[in-house]
Amino acid sequence: MLSDRDLLAMASEASAWAHAPYSGFQVGAALLCSLEDGSEQCVLGANYETAHYRAVCAERHALQSARVTLKSLNLRFLKLAIFSPQKPVGLTPCGDCRQVVFEANPDCLLLSWAASGKVLSMKASELLPSAFGLESV
Ligand code: THU
Ligand code: ZN
Repeated sequence: MLSDRDLLAMASEASAWAHAPYSGFQVGAALLCSLEDGSEQCVLGANYETAHYRAVCAERHALQSARVTLKSLNLRFLKLAIFSPQKPVGLTPCGDCRQVVFEANPDCLLLSWAASGKVLSMKASELLPSAFGLESV
């Protein structure tokens, strides 16, 4: 069973594999998923940049990769830890990633380090209040 601190350590390791030659801002993500059989698996992600200044964020890389890596269309995304050596405390996901995580699971917990040394834990629904959706109100 992986603790929140374990997940943040894995996100930190993943940040070493970021490709960020333009911003110099490396981000790693560790996504804890539960599978149909009730087991849990962790999938990593890292940001990847190109010369036209669009990047694949670490969070979305982990989410997209999880389905293929774990060969499942029925994953539940439980927790997503993120870490950047350039911003070791107080890191939060960008707007695009908030929307993707929210749509995957509004209860998914986003984890990062707080300045106090504690783990910051925020629900996707808290990070994206009044989220956009296609359903009518
Ligand atoms: N980035 C992420 O990977 N995740 C975030 O939540 C924020 C930003 C990346 C995108 C880009 O490669 C670099 O950080 C600077 O914006
Ligand atoms: Zn993002």
